[in-house]
Amino acid sequence: MQKKGAIGIFDSGYGGLTILKEIVQILPEYNYIYLGDNARAPYGSRSFDTVYRYTWEAVQWFFEQGCTLVILACNTASAKALRTIQQNNLPLLNDKHKRVLGVIRPTAEVIGNYTNSKHIGILGTTGTIQSNSYLLEIEKFFPSVNVYQQACPLWVPLIENNEHLTKGADYFVKKYIDQLMEQSANIDTLLLACTHYPLLLDKISNHTPADIKIITQGNIVALSLKDYLQRHPAIEELCIKNQTIQFYTTDNAALFNTQAAIFWNNKIESKQINLSAF
Ligand code: DGL
Repeated sequence: MQKKGAIGIFDSGYGGLTILKEIVQILPEYNYIYLGDNARAPYGSRSFDTVYRYTWEAVQWFFEQGCTLVILACNTASAKALRTIQQNNLPLLNDKHKRVLGVIRPTAEVIGNYTNSKHIGILGTTGTIQSNSYLLEIEKFFPSVNVYQQACPLWVPLIENNEHLTKGADYFVKKYIDQLMEQSANIDTLLLACTHYPLLLDKISNHTPADIKIITQGNIVALSLKDYLQRHPAIEELCIKNQTIQFYTTDNAALFNTQAAIFWNNKIESKQINLSAF
């Protein structure tokens, strides 16, 4: 008989906690395991090969913990590793119940519904933007929507180093938003296509024209997961429902507990793991 497990939630660091928070709101009944690869974050400026290798190591670790379903709650990993894992790695496992999902497709499926002008701006890491994943995915679901992109390479480091609420952060928040807005006067919707960026939401709102909608992904991904579990009862049955959440990091656990508190309302007790065995 197939063993049951928690739902795995993965990010390069703390950003995936903004997704997990919304998932737990909408699907509180399940068990979750969160892993932040903090020792190797940020992923945003790393090559395809490296992001793929790190992400696949993490996914194998989740499978070893008994997870059936793993969500890459990281746009960079979704952009650079998900397809290879789905197409090359999973088929070799000979286990049709092992699934890995990302955050880009569920976002692309609905983002066109938010715009009236049919002009959307995407803010993401260099890796996500250079992959053109959003351009390609949005084109499939909303071919008449124009997509403009801007990489924001300094935002994740500001957040991971807890500098995102400082005055200095404003300079870089404004800089990238201005660069995006200069691409088209018709943009009416901004997508924060990095799971870290909700932490900068106040500053992003302050530097964005008031009539522009700012969209974060947490709720979108959570609703999409709910729908996925309803459509895949064989996978859903393999997800344990005891309402527990365990946190793991590849860096120092005490540091994770302190930093993660910025993203999470309750106290976090994490454990450190080593991915190099995978
Ligand atoms: N939170 C990740 C994302 O959604 C990225 C962070 C990183 O650069 O590591 O893209």
